[in-house]
Amino acid sequence: MMSEIKSPWPGPKGLIPVTSGKADDANVYNRAYLDSIHVEMRVIDAVLPDLGCEIFGEKFSSPIMMPAFSHLNKVGKDGKKPMVQYAEAALELNALNWVGMEPNDEYAEIAAVGAKTVRIIKPFMNHDKILDEIKFAEEHGAIAVGIDIDHVPGTDGKYDVVDGFPLGPVMQEELEKYVAATELPFVAKGVLSVQDAVKAKDAGCKAIIVSHHHGRIPFGIAPAQILPRIKETLEGSGVLVFADCSIDTGYDAYKLLALGADAVAVGRGILGPLLKDGREGVTKKVIEMNQQLSELMMYTGIKDACSFDKSVLYI
Ligand SMILES: Cc1cc2nc3c(=O)[nH]c(=O)nc-3n(C[C@H](O)[C@H](O)[C@H](O)COP(=O)(O)O)c2cc1C
Repeated sequence: MMSEIKSPWPGPKGLIPVTSGKADDANVYNRAYLDSIHVEMRVIDAVLPDLGCEIFGEKFSSPIMMPAFSHLNKVGKDGKKPMVQYAEAALELNALNWVGMEPNDEYAEIAAVGAKTVRIIKPFMNHDKILDEIKFAEEHGAIAVGIDIDHVPGTDGKYDVVDGFPLGPVMQEELEKYVAATELPFVAKGVLSVQDAVKAKDAGCKAIIVSHHHGRIPFGIAPAQILPRIKETLEGSGVLVFADCSIDTGYDAYKLLALGADAVAVGRGILGPLLKDGREGVTKKVIEMNQQLSELMMYTGIKDACSFDKSVLYI
């Protein structure tokens, strides 16, 4: 019986499923897995690293990105809109911004901030709604669009329903149609197997996010665990491989980058600072994470964001 809830990441009540904190909780396992990875030191010839990187043809100051959050405007205090505030932080930091499930009017307000943004759309049962949101994102300057393919099941074992909108299965041929419906790079968010990585590539996706969406799947493996296999499988394909889940420090980010991620997104790691201090809170947190990333890169002789090396890791 799962009674007492001790999730390390409960999040604001009612916003996201509160995970159990027990053996089935992929967040707990993920945290332990990330923490078990250690690094050797390579300081001779090590210099101050350059964190700059290029994603979808755009230049960013760091491979640490914003998360595809959603619904947060509902919990913003005093009329504040956290979805807009973290976009402002992305703009200030020159970080890639991501946006999850938001109605078109809210999406337009976030896009108007001017940060380079990727829109992630839910796998709605209504495919026309997906196509409409892809088009809207295009018209509002998104630099990529995608679907969180891992948000199909609900906790009742049926297709999930979010805000009254039924979600449905993601069939590969439908994915191909969404990819073909836009000129923008298409992202499959929530890949946690080599099989799905290959299917996403074959469907024409230009990027994937290795993720279990803050522990949606019970007993899910750690993204860090599957990342090297996925990276190796997609080598030479041109598909970018991003990762997220449980990244709370620049050291966590370093480990995923060393394991092969082209860039990483911080999820609930910025949620507390965002809800407490808005744009400033997020900016401060990400600057600190970039400092930690730079520190560990310098200790391990990694000169820039294109030169990460898995051989420094002890797993
Ligand atoms: C409040 C909240 C809302 C989210 N909404 C979405 C969403 O609409 N679409 C999506 O793909 N991911 C969504 N996510 C998941 C994040 O994009 C990300 O995958 C996840 O938070 C990473 O795990 P972490 O929180 O452990 O870093 C949401 C996460 C939170 C905390």
